[in-house]
Amino acid sequence: MRFYITTPIYYPNSEPHIGTAYTTIACDVISRFYKQKNYDVFFLTGTDENSNKIIESANKVNKKPIEYVNEMAELFKNIWKNLDIEYTKFIRTTEDYHIKTAQFVFQKLYEQGYIYKGLYEGWYCIHCETFWTTSKVDDSKLCPNIECRRPLNYIKEENYFFKLSAFEDKLLKYYEDNPDFVYPDYRFNEVVSFVKSGLQDLSVSRKYNNWGIRVPFDQDYSIYVWIDALTNYISALGYPFELDLFDKYWEVAYHMVGKDIIRFHAVIWPAILMALNIKLPKKIIAHGWLMYDNQKISKSKGGDIFNLKEIALSNDKIKISALRYYLLREGSFGQDIPVSLERFKYIYTSELSNNIGNLFSRVLAIIEKKLNKYVFKESDFSYIQNSFINERLSNFDKELSNFNYSKAVLEILNLADYLNKIIENYKVWEIKDKNLNQIMYELVYSLVVLNKMLYPFMPFIANNILEQLNLPLESLKWDYTIPDSFNIKERKILFPKIENVLA
Ligand code: MSP
Repeated sequence: MRFYITTPIYYPNSEPHIGTAYTTIACDVISRFYKQKNYDVFFLTGTDENSNKIIESANKVNKKPIEYVNEMAELFKNIWKNLDIEYTKFIRTTEDYHIKTAQFVFQKLYEQGYIYKGLYEGWYCIHCETFWTTSKVDDSKLCPNIECRRPLNYIKEENYFFKLSAFEDKLLKYYEDNPDFVYPDYRFNEVVSFVKSGLQDLSVSRKYNNWGIRVPFDQDYSIYVWIDALTNYISALGYPFELDLFDKYWEVAYHMVGKDIIRFHAVIWPAILMALNIKLPKKIIAHGWLMYDNQKISKSKGGDIFNLKEIALSNDKIKISALRYYLLREGSFGQDIPVSLERFKYIYTSELSNNIGNLFSRVLAIIEKKLNKYVFKESDFSYIQNSFINERLSNFDKELSNFNYSKAVLEILNLADYLNKIIENYKVWEIKDKNLNQIMYELVYSLVVLNKMLYPFMPFIANNILEQLNLPLESLKWDYTIPDSFNIKERKILFPKIENVLA
């Protein structure tokens, strides 16, 4: 069984912030979860380096574009590594193999008549890399994108166009036959109405200005950013020159994207793939935005409430684990998610420290102090309902398989609450006879299950728990058989007080 998950490739003209981290963590959680279920997983992320914005950003810091993107790509890799992002491959669109694939794709589309040369006249925003139709531009002549509002340039030039309009019916038919193609469904509805309202051909080239991938048959032009960028998902797998990985993973491709780039992935990319005669990805999963003060978080807006670079580079694993958990446990997947430091502190204290952390520490303290660190299975379960535990685990599995992160986390919390109640109801700390061993065994058994569910969200914490429970890495696998006895090790605090974490 295989699974291929991709993040969008990020523009390296600004440093990663929690918004970009959100997409990446969401993919990492899913990727780790499928690995726990013994899937053969390929997890792709990377940087989208050929846009004109790079020239601007490099100029500002007096660097050559290539030096600038080299440094930024290293920074992205470093930050992802410290955030415990376990990707399989990091793609950079300035790498040779990618350039060859993008040119191959462009050439093939051209030869098949899907790319033609025409006159483009209209407004262009360098920052957004977007051509705007006159109807969208008001008298201010500023970029219609409310996030941008920079001055537009009026351009009149010959350009290459992709015949997107030729794919309207085919796309609609595909959507109809594949009602699960886009998740959540309200995003799918938006995509369908957009296509129904009529598709225009798309400008896919710019005048070459010493940066970007050249159009293979016309050296005066470079490939406009989206054909180049989207192609990363197949060039990373070797398409079309070495097909081993492509043959293995492409048919199980899932693209995770923010809602702002859904059309590129659910309309333009499928049309390009249809033109190339390549199967479409299994699913496009669109998440909402992290918001601060009612605005989409970006490097400049609210990006500093959690200084991602500082947190990541300090490699403070408790803070990093808590941040991973916090971002994914919030909201309903697909919707925008307000974030704040106050809310983070509240979630940390009530869910991580007081609920999950306290549970582990109570159970392990009793075993350490009263049972000489050893428990074993003496009889069938008589305190904890195994069916309740199994139900939590199977619900968790179902929710995460459907990308419902916060609902999956609710199963974790539900189980932790239940186990804390068992400790209270049986007044475990007062039990002195041999019943103590059995109830503690049942509790540790349940903690092993709980730890499996914690793992994709907080791998560092789960590994820490493994050490304390003296268990092998395999115990994180879905099919692990939980042992009949435990010899636990030194106890460690999982989640220190919030004051110490944020100090
Ligand atoms: N380079 C293109 C993607 C090409 S994919 C073939 C791009 N890059 S980006 O760096 O601008 O954004 C990448 C992703 O980060 C998008 O999916 C976007 O939604 C996500 N986020 C950026 N800010 C965000 C939030 N505040 N919240 C959640 N995700 C957001 O677009």
